[in-house]
Amino acid sequence: MVTRTPTLVLGIETTCDETAAAVVERQADGSARILSNIVRSQIDEHAPFGGVVPEIAARAHVDCLDGIVASAMQEAGIAFDRLDGIAAAAGPGLIGGVIVGLTTAKAIALVHNTPLMAVNHLEAHALTPRLVSPLTFPYCLFLASGGHTQIVAVLGVGDYVRLGTTVDDAIGEAFDKVAKMLGLGYPGGPQVERGAATGDASRFALPRPMLGRPDANFSFSGLKTAVRNEAERTAPLGPQDIADLCAGFQAAVIASTADRLSTGLSLFRERFGAPKALVAAGGVAANQAIRAALQTVADQARTALIVPPPALCTDNGAMIAWAGLERLALGLTDTMETSPRARWRLDETTPTPAQFANTRARH
Ligand code: KG4
Ligand code: ZN
Repeated sequence: MVTRTPTLVLGIETTCDETAAAVVERQADGSARILSNIVRSQIDEHAPFGGVVPEIAARAHVDCLDGIVASAMQEAGIAFDRLDGIAAAAGPGLIGGVIVGLTTAKAIALVHNTPLMAVNHLEAHALTPRLVSPLTFPYCLFLASGGHTQIVAVLGVGDYVRLGTTVDDAIGEAFDKVAKMLGLGYPGGPQVERGAATGDASRFALPRPMLGRPDANFSFSGLKTAVRNEAERTAPLGPQDIADLCAGFQAAVIASTADRLSTGLSLFRERFGAPKALVAAGGVAANQAIRAALQTVADQARTALIVPPPALCTDNGAMIAWAGLERLALGLTDTMETSPRARWRLDETTPTPAQFANTRARH
């Protein structure tokens, strides 16, 4: 441990359609205390378009980030000069929003002469379970959101190995697209889950993508097309048709996800030994039927399932602040030259040689 404890970091998240800021304290024993966690969702701005519109997102981040940061600081009851560092999600994501968040963080860091941590958004999801529990490495992450579907071996801070990913649509994106084609609202996940509750999953014969494949990858676009074909064949759709299509789609997603995850856990075990837990993150982890399936997969693999509370599973500032705290504790800070990145693979988050040199200098 190279930083003094307790340590306070402000985290900023602007990679998609949430503008968020939070102050998190890492206490002397390594546990976290969330002093504030403010999230402003742009769902209402994007809803008329059935998905996130990048230009609208960037403008909304510009309009409200200053106010969100001020609220986070006020709620935490601290001044900027008490902060030990500023963390911002520097990617991956919609580049306009990422620029807004990272530039704001740089400005605050510069003015208050405070370390900057440019955090990979996926790394923040990956480290979130350690924000809420004393989980140790290694563990297996299932990240399931509107933009990402990944199985990741989390071996340490900055040490990630991607075991599986989607070859086409993200899992949440598939829920959103199916909802849109069935005339349900945005975001589609909760609407499809609600529809599925009263539907007959066996009425339509839908494919179970990637079942039994030796890798741990996902695919959802063929399933989405199959739902579209059934919907067109059945049209005009009544409420029961919609419920049955939702149930059939969700059952297919669950069967595929359970199979892909148990393969992912086997690959994990072969390469890294037994994981300490299976951890789920991302908005799709809010789906109760998917959670139940994850529990079964975890039980079969004889490992614990950890699903952080919904407010920390979906995009938020606290997870960025926490990832910043984890990196700061290892001396992994960034310079003002750090660039925002639209694409940034999690397994490229390994510290750069310059950062390792920095770590040594601080020890
Ligand atoms: O993590 P998140 O809030 O934002 C990012 O995509 O980064 O995830 C949002 C995604 C959306 O695609 C949404 O439809 C999906 O999570 N989602 C769900 C549920 N709630 C949200 N998908 C399935 N079932 C749900 N209950
Ligand atoms: Zn996310």
